[in-house]
Amino acid sequence: MSYKLLDGKDLAARMKKDMLKEVEELTKAGIFPGLAVVIVGNDPASRIYVNSKKRDCEEVGIKSFEYSLPEQTSEEELLGLIDALNQDPAVDGILVQLPLPKHLDEAKVIRRINSEKDVDAFHPYNVGELMIGRPVFAPCTPAGVMELIKDAGLDVAGKNCVVVGRSNIVGKPMAMLMLHDNATVTICHSKTKDLKAVCKEADILIAAIGRANYITADYVKEGAIVIDVGMNRNSEGKVTGDVDFPAICEKASAITPVPGGVGPMTRAMLLKNTIKACNMHKNYGLS
Ligand code: GUN
Repeated sequence: MSYKLLDGKDLAARMKKDMLKEVEELTKAGIFPGLAVVIVGNDPASRIYVNSKKRDCEEVGIKSFEYSLPEQTSEEELLGLIDALNQDPAVDGILVQLPLPKHLDEAKVIRRINSEKDVDAFHPYNVGELMIGRPVFAPCTPAGVMELIKDAGLDVAGKNCVVVGRSNIVGKPMAMLMLHDNATVTICHSKTKDLKAVCKEADILIAAIGRANYITADYVKEGAIVIDVGMNRNSEGKVTGDVDFPAICEKASAITPVPGGVGPMTRAMLLKNTIKACNMHKNYGLS
């Protein structure tokens, strides 16, 4: 079976071109979208993510402000910084890179971000708005997956969608976005009985497990659409997804590569949310 490659790198590049134009228009009007990125400690993966987010901002003309805090930063100091960023009119979006060092309470930190600047959509207010079907900001990874599906001319309505993974960042919001677009959604996790049989029923299979090549060809129905949210490093340090791509592309009608599939879409959606926040603040006089 020939398959369609869902090329996130290409779609993200097209989206960035459009966003560059939009930011240029805002800038001409004296409005400068700004994203504050907060990183605490020295986690190497977080450092790579933060650097790429800064680069993405530059590419589309969004101002980025980096706050790199030492590992031993106290909760009080971090909350103080968030309070200041909440008040800062140059800052439209605030992103606190996760995970935080163990002594910091992530839930408390996220709650402190003004929900109107919560471009990650992790604040309980935004989680709630998503749940009731009126998201202000949609979380970047699941929103990016939806864009990728739509851009390929595919529709989730009426389809059997199976999400493997129930994280707050990917699995749960992914299920909500597809449900709102009229999919029939099943969420699976480590305690799901006969995961293989459930996955095999999927018209659209979303793998967000975090284990390299966990989803093998015998989990996939002939003609299914397969979305790989995994970002794992194998023993040689190479990035691989949760899906056994070479075997599954023989069966799938459409599939995302890793790298170059969901990852670039996540980053593009962060920029989109930041521009959206800027437009909201401009209209409501927050900045
Ligand atoms: N750590 C891993 N992914 C993400 C993300 O999307 N946002 C933030 N803030 N931290 C992360």
